[in-house]
Amino acid sequence: MQPMPDGVVTLQDHRVRARQALAPDLWAYFCGGAADEITLHGNKTAWDRIELLPRVLRGAAPDLRTSLLGRTMAHPLLLAPVAFQGLAHADGELATGYAAAAQAAGFVLPTQSSVALETIGAALAADGDRGPLWFQLYPQDDPGVTHDLLARVAAAGFEAIVLTVDAPVQGARDRQRRAGFRVPDGAAVNLRPYPGTRAKSQLGWRDVEGVVAATHLPVLLKGVLHPDDARLALASGARGVIVSNHGGRTLDTATATATALPGVVDAVHGQAPVLVDGGIRRGTDILKALALGADAVLVGQPIIWGLATAGAVGVAHVVRLLLDEFAMAMALTGCRRVADAGEVLLQSQAGRPGSA
Ligand SMILES: Cc1cc2nc3c(=O)[nH]c(=O)nc-3n(C[C@H](O)[C@H](O)[C@H](O)COP(=O)(O)O)c2cc1C
Repeated sequence: MQPMPDGVVTLQDHRVRARQALAPDLWAYFCGGAADEITLHGNKTAWDRIELLPRVLRGAAPDLRTSLLGRTMAHPLLLAPVAFQGLAHADGELATGYAAAAQAAGFVLPTQSSVALETIGAALAADGDRGPLWFQLYPQDDPGVTHDLLARVAAAGFEAIVLTVDAPVQGARDRQRRAGFRVPDGAAVNLRPYPGTRAKSQLGWRDVEGVVAATHLPVLLKGVLHPDDARLALASGARGVIVSNHGGRTLDTATATATALPGVVDAVHGQAPVLVDGGIRRGTDILKALALGADAVLVGQPIIWGLATAGAVGVAHVVRLLLDEFAMAMALTGCRRVADAGEVLLQSQAGRPGSA
């Protein structure tokens, strides 16, 4: 176990450490966005622009518990799928998975993980105190490969599939290319049994139905911004949607997730959970997401900052900081329960975020 360095008290402090620890090409991969990085930065700015309107004297002792897909969770925070975490720390997704479990946070293992899904399942599935354990799927060109992958995921003890639909092509990763980043050969260990396999690029709603039919696990669609796509997702059998623009890594100038969230929440109309990610860096951001109707949130880049700073301990610390800040924000706005968030808080100066 690595110790936490002194003076690291925010996610931004982790980021500064991580930047020192990682080679420039890895930094460009982990923390760069698409093209001019407008969306990458816009995600965070959109949360920042939302103002809180706290209530006082409510005697609030915050209860962070929530429920998702019929399961009670200690709090509404999950760790997003982030590919190739082994490039940030030798323990890779195993460190992240243990850290998530220690903090009862959800953990989404990417298709392109550095640690085999069976290893993660063996380490975590039986832990009764952990948060949700989900698998992020990139369907492969050969449907037989996708089916085999889904069977392995279910056998390993994962509880849901996160089907990512916002990256049919990679996007203009200018910063990565400038830095000369390349994924090392064979890095996607889960796909080693299928030599030559490629992610399917021309996905359609039929493919969503195909994945839903191919597994008994609930499927959540990740990368939804348009309300109509949220409706189509449910009509195609998805059991939840994740409002995401891939952390600003695919389509630059795509709308910020805080801006898109209310429209999706309206469209879903309480029929299924709505999750959101992108630019969540403070406990107040979690509260704002819930206030706008999200059921839970995910963080991506901050995992890497924690990993690079101090391995599993670093990731656990990142999660703890966010949760402590979130509890503080609940108390300071008079929210007793997660469900109170919408009632009290927010007003941006000119109505909804993005309308200013
Ligand atoms: C280095 C990196 C790799 C990622 N790889 C994947 C991936 O393989 N699959 C996926 O669905 N999302 C991937 N994402 C997107 C995250 O799941 C998440 O949507 C995004 O990071 C959230 O924004 P944030 O980083 O601002 O918290 C990746 C993000 C990063 C930073």
